[in-house]
Amino acid sequence: MDKNTDKQAREILESNDKGGFTVPTGGLYPYQWNWDSVFVALGFATFDESRAVKEIETLFEAQWEDGFLPHIVFRRDDPDYFPGPSFWKAGAGIPSSGITQPPVAASVISALWSSIADAGIRDRLAALFPKLLAWHRWFLEYRVPAEAGAVVITHPWESGRDNSPEWDAPASSIDVSNIKPYTRRDLKHAEAHMRPTKEDYDRYIALVEFGRRTGWDHAVIANEGPFRVADVGMTMILLRATRDLLDLAHKLGHSDVIHELKSHRARLEQGADYLWDDSANTYCSRDTITGRHSGFVTNASFLYAYGGVGSAGQRAHMAEHWNRISARAEYMLPSHDPDDSHFDHMRYWRGPIWMVVNYMLAKGFEEQGMAEWNARIAADSERLIREHGFNEAFSPVTGSGTGGSGFSWTAAMWLAWCGNEA
Ligand code: DGY
Repeated sequence: MDKNTDKQAREILESNDKGGFTVPTGGLYPYQWNWDSVFVALGFATFDESRAVKEIETLFEAQWEDGFLPHIVFRRDDPDYFPGPSFWKAGAGIPSSGITQPPVAASVISALWSSIADAGIRDRLAALFPKLLAWHRWFLEYRVPAEAGAVVITHPWESGRDNSPEWDAPASSIDVSNIKPYTRRDLKHAEAHMRPTKEDYDRYIALVEFGRRTGWDHAVIANEGPFRVADVGMTMILLRATRDLLDLAHKLGHSDVIHELKSHRARLEQGADYLWDDSANTYCSRDTITGRHSGFVTNASFLYAYGGVGSAGQRAHMAEHWNRISARAEYMLPSHDPDDSHFDHMRYWRGPIWMVVNYMLAKGFEEQGMAEWNARIAADSERLIREHGFNEAFSPVTGSGTGGSGFSWTAAMWLAWCGNEA
């Protein structure tokens, strides 16, 4: 354990705490983001359990009546971020975005339930159960078509892996000819070579405009939206979260939903098979409009261990990819295959390493008895933060920070995981 780095990590969480909710980092992301907040709760839990639960409670205050949980909650307007609340025009009580993000909440709440003894705080965690269940039901209703069984995203931002090359082909057919002129704000806070391109942004904005035109009708978006891709990251995360929710249901005595949650699990397990690409021999995302796999090996591909899926043969193929990538990368695990021409070591989700994905990978590897992979991920993560600071992401080639700095979820992962592994 490294006392000084621990202290810095706590200070980052405290300074990004805006009163019951935490911003990912000042400037670049001035609101509450869904999966950021949930991971951040793990960091708070290492020194303030009550504050940890508060982070998730405030997030769920923005839940819609149908169970949907938005990816951004706008508690006030900040002209320094685009697109802000007046552009999205979404949210019932509290203004929000109209798309969601990876459902890590059930897994984090389950982890907090196991580690927290205080009865009052446990009651607050238990009170979140129906909200989690409602969100999972929303996914199953709108985003997990029976024929795929995998989670379909309707905007690249939903995956959290905004500009992964996985979205290039499916997004290329989005019509951007009618979007209104707009000004990007992210480039005031981060260098252009670290961020998505203008072409990416035009597509992001066209998709927001499409959703807004439907009045954020999720049935219409799911059936007619111009971007509908079964995402390997979301699918493995929801599968894992479903198992954790099932476990919580047992612990909290919700026997009435056990059968239903088991059927969610079975459907998502089928979804993992839908995402296996026989020609690239990897798990990857798949366009549900064209039926085409991306064919790319990304950090999300390796979440199969976290999702707890994979036959012996599939795992052997994934091991070949691991061996090839780990021989090349100074630090593991790059968000995109370094042998692929789209790899870009400093550009957001086209190469850089993300601590929250590393955390989920390590957890999966550990549970599946893959001790060497777990050790490599944990050691590289620890070294990246200790030597380069609490960056948004890190180059797998040089270790340098990319994107924003003083980043909440990186600090949280240090406190809750890699800073305390050694
Ligand atoms: C951004 O603004 O870059 C976010 O990732 C969108 O959620």
